[in-house]
Amino acid sequence: MLKKRWWDKSVIYQVYPKSFYDSNNDGIGDIKGIVDKLDYLKDLGIGIIWLSPVYKSPMDDNGYDIMDYYDIDKQFGSMEDMGNLIKEGNKRNIKIMMDLVINHTSDEHNWFIESRSSKSNPKRDFYIWKDPKPDGSAPNNWKSIFGGFAWEYDDNTKQYYLHVFSKKQPDLNWENEEVRMKLYDMVNYWLDKGLGGFRVDAITYIKKDNTFKNLESTNNEELVNINGGSLNQKGIEDFLSELKKNTFSKYDIVTVAEAPGIPREKLKDYSGANGFFDLLFEFEHSDLDVAEDGKWYTPKKWTLQEFKDALFKSQEVYNDLGFGALFLENHDQPRSLNKFIKESDIGQASAKMLATIYFLLKGIPFIYQGEEIGMTNVKYESIEDYNDISSIDQYNSAINDGLSKEEALEAVHRRSRDNGRSPMQWDDSKNSGFTEVEPWLKVNNNYEEINVKNNLESEDSILNYYKNLIDLRRNSDYSDVIVYGKYIEFMEDDKNIFAYIREYENKKLLVLANFYGENIKVKLNCNVDKVLISNYDLTSISNDEVYLRPYEAVVFGVL
Ligand code: GLC
Ligand code: CA
Repeated sequence: MLKKRWWDKSVIYQVYPKSFYDSNNDGIGDIKGIVDKLDYLKDLGIGIIWLSPVYKSPMDDNGYDIMDYYDIDKQFGSMEDMGNLIKEGNKRNIKIMMDLVINHTSDEHNWFIESRSSKSNPKRDFYIWKDPKPDGSAPNNWKSIFGGFAWEYDDNTKQYYLHVFSKKQPDLNWENEEVRMKLYDMVNYWLDKGLGGFRVDAITYIKKDNTFKNLESTNNEELVNINGGSLNQKGIEDFLSELKKNTFSKYDIVTVAEAPGIPREKLKDYSGANGFFDLLFEFEHSDLDVAEDGKWYTPKKWTLQEFKDALFKSQEVYNDLGFGALFLENHDQPRSLNKFIKESDIGQASAKMLATIYFLLKGIPFIYQGEEIGMTNVKYESIEDYNDISSIDQYNSAINDGLSKEEALEAVHRRSRDNGRSPMQWDDSKNSGFTEVEPWLKVNNNYEEINVKNNLESEDSILNYYKNLIDLRRNSDYSDVIVYGKYIEFMEDDKNIFAYIREYENKKLLVLANFYGENIKVKLNCNVDKVLISNYDLTSISNDEVYLRPYEAVVFGVL
């Protein structure tokens, strides 16, 4: 039996602080701005806020490059503001989950400044330094996630350092015990402040292949994606269990790890009550449209079947294990409406359908800011308008590979991380009510139509639909079914339908959704009772046949 915990029924809302709400009109969202909007989040019904990083940072990767773990970046506010956010959250029964970035620091972190100062510096070994090859070139052919060599030469000491992400994000050397102990102290420092937990960034990269040998190239390109030498490497388990033992396990918190590429048979080591973390973000379903080579300009076709398989295979594992981390969007992804729905069909029905199908799976649902009002991708006119470091890399590499500017920009439109980072659309006033000055990133030009104010005013808005879904999860007769119930497959091979059953102590519900824009008739072969929630007014059902209109999603109690 699963042990029940305080966060089981929660819904987690991800805030990207830079883009949420600007309280002091400098164009940048901040911590006070989050406090100002806590009542909005309370009203939505969420229980935990995951905050993307707010630590002191030069913002090369928008805060995922930390220069001081013990300080808040000025543009976001102060330590006092952070304390106040935790306090004000507690008053409303909302816990704060911070982002924990411990695979790397900023190159402006004091540890790195010391480390690079000389080979004999006591912090030298805090990072991964290697000699050049005899001809002066990089130690091996590993390619960083953001493009280019994963090695940066430092003239001062004539060695290279390793960076899985940008060159301003040098990787910490987890083989060094002193590094690990310092990180654990820091984690506990924050947990002592009363956080509800951590979202753990890029954690499956902390162990490297310590032979640092070349990776085999399959496409004749000089550089090979670093994953083969740095992702889920043998021996990582020792680091992860030590991390948990020294930190998380001492507190009553929830942890969720960013963990691409963990094979399903290993999920039990990584998540659940005995795993390294409580929850895991898996990416198979959200990266369906990303080609093997990771290049945005080679879009990949995907099918509903693949999407369902990606989600359902994990669900089967979670039946025995606990909970999945349920999400369609985050700050690294384009908007789900653009990804999953064809452009002319994006709207209320399709948005509510997407919400229904992922929210009621077995797990803890995450909402990414703006998803709850149906925000969509931006389409900035020039690459100059983009801020995201990986968009700029992808654009340049497309141009290098011979694409035109228009083609390169089109790929960025589709896949840019700025799609999810454009300012939150609060109302129809200038700059969408996010700020009174020029925002750090342009507002989506559909803000007059898509915004929180409109959503609050209309009873059948996407926002109100999310509220009802959350209410169904937290407060209804079906709450235990939704939270603890077993996932059972249903019509899993159907080419148009997304459906499943959940069951707990003889109580059942059926989620049934038309994933596309054509009418469709479905034979149920099961006895349905009342409609628990639906994105259309009346469900047309006769005998056991249901007529589903475009993007119709309906949840039935099952007899
Ligand atoms: C994670 C974050 C992403 C960041 C990267 C490096 O993938 O989600 O935003 O760029 O780690 O820290
Ligand atoms: Ca501000």
